Amino acid sequence: MFSLLCGLMSVCALGRGQLATNGQLDDGKRYICRAIPLSGDPTCPVTLLPELNAGGQEEELRNTVMQLRETILQQKEMISKQIGTINELTTKLSLCASTTDDRKYDKGSSWGKEKQNTMGDDRLENLEQQHLRANVSGAPFPTELRDLLQRRLGELEKQLLKKVSNLEEEKSMLSNATAEYRLKTESTLSALVDRISELEKGGGDFKSPEQFKLSLPQRTNYLYGRVTKTLPEMYAFTLCMWIKSSASPGIGTPFSYGVPGQANEIVLIEWGNNPIELLINDKVAQLPLEVRDGKWHHICITWTTRDGQWEAYQDGGKLGSGDNLAAWHPIKPGGVIILGQEQDVVGGRFDAGQAFVGELSQVNIWDRVLKPVEIQSMANCSSYIPGNVISWLASNVEVFGRGAFKRPMETCQERLPKA
Ligand SMILES: *[C@@H]1O[C@H](CO)[C@@H](O)[C@H](O)[C@H]1NC(C)=O
Ligand SMILES: *[C@@H]1O[C@H](CO)[C@@H](O)[C@H](O)[C@H]1NC(C)=O
Ligand SMILES: *[C@@H]1O[C@H](CO)[C@@H](O)[C@H](O)[C@H]1NC(C)=O
Repeated sequence: MFSLLCGLMSVCALGRGQLATNGQLDDGKRYICRAIPLSGDPTCPVTLLPELNAGGQEEELRNTVMQLRETILQQKEMISKQIGTINELTTKLSLCASTTDDRKYDKGSSWGKEKQNTMGDDRLENLEQQHLRANVSGAPFPTELRDLLQRRLGELEKQLLKKVSNLEEEKSMLSNATAEYRLKTESTLSALVDRISELEKGGGDFKSPEQFKLSLPQRTNYLYGRVTKTLPEMYAFTLCMWIKSSASPGIGTPFSYGVPGQANEIVLIEWGNNPIELLINDKVAQLPLEVRDGKWHHICITWTTRDGQWEAYQDGGKLGSGDNLAAWHPIKPGGVIILGQEQDVVGGRFDAGQAFVGELSQVNIWDRVLKPVEIQSMANCSSYIPGNVISWLASNVEVFGRGAFKRPMETCQERLPKA
């Protein structure tokens, strides 16, 4: 052994010509050291060896070591990634579990399950810590942890499915309620559409809001107009309207105002062969008016609580007056005005025999007695005064019954009686 080493060193010393110990110059040549047995002839020319040999093996080994190191590093990296994933999953799982705990509609039976899950969580943490400790040594991903995770995921999936089915049930209940509501809404809507088309048939766009008439062509108990406004308490009033009818024997009831407790608070009626009557608080006055000729007529009735005085006008002329009609009675407020029907109860119980047949327009009410000149100027078309308590506006008059319409009105001149 010793001799081998010595020989080795000697060859090396020989080969390294650049060493200045013996004063030799560097001749620029390179030599390769090689161990030779002591028994060998050291003077024999050194045979050139192929480059690969001892050095090549060393290189190979080094490469292998490098590769191994790299593999280890990669594995470590993978493990740390897996740990990151595990941590993330655990956080998500615990989040899921806590939201599941919060469910209000959770049955008692599932609380046991939750406890199991918490226990599972503890085990999961233990395993995780074990794995962390094993990190340095590069231990493989434990299959136990994987199984646990899979089980946990399975449980969560089941809970999710239950939640989804609960939600589906709620949705079905809701959609049933919605369907019912939608049916109701649809029927209301279709009624509204009917009303609108009726209004459109009747000519919705009038030249001006008061230039329309209410047309009640048949004697029924269901065609009528209703004024959307009510009357205040009144101690005097004037009621005017344009009226056209050819009904016989009587024109029926163009106007009625009923209040709770008194369906005949104010009524204008012509029934049978009787003259037109004015009822106030169910007291009656017969009016000297004649409108049954199928032509337009302008009529006005004035009344005051003082002595129950009344006046009746037709086409601008005062045709009659009287007193003691519901004297000192105040007109009660808050009732319902119906055009074309006589009310037996407020707003209803109509009688076809008392229904008005014909056309009505510009039904206006004032809470005072109009002067004769005011009435005359309206009747001769030189002025139009809207009522101060009830004003004839399309928006103030609702039409009821198939066949009853609001229609555009003839001009005032066209309504005037031809001389
Ligand atoms: C696990 O090993 C990786 C790679 O060496 C390291 O980055 C990580 O911090 C280690 N994790 C733990 C929890 O020790
Ligand atoms: C909703 O309606 C459907 C069919 O109309 C019915 O089968 C279902 O039981 C109803 N759901 C509820 C919660 O009422
Ligand atoms: C209409 O009546 C008013 C009031 O009586 C009168 O002043 C006016 O001259 C009348 N107009 C016509 C065109 O008759």
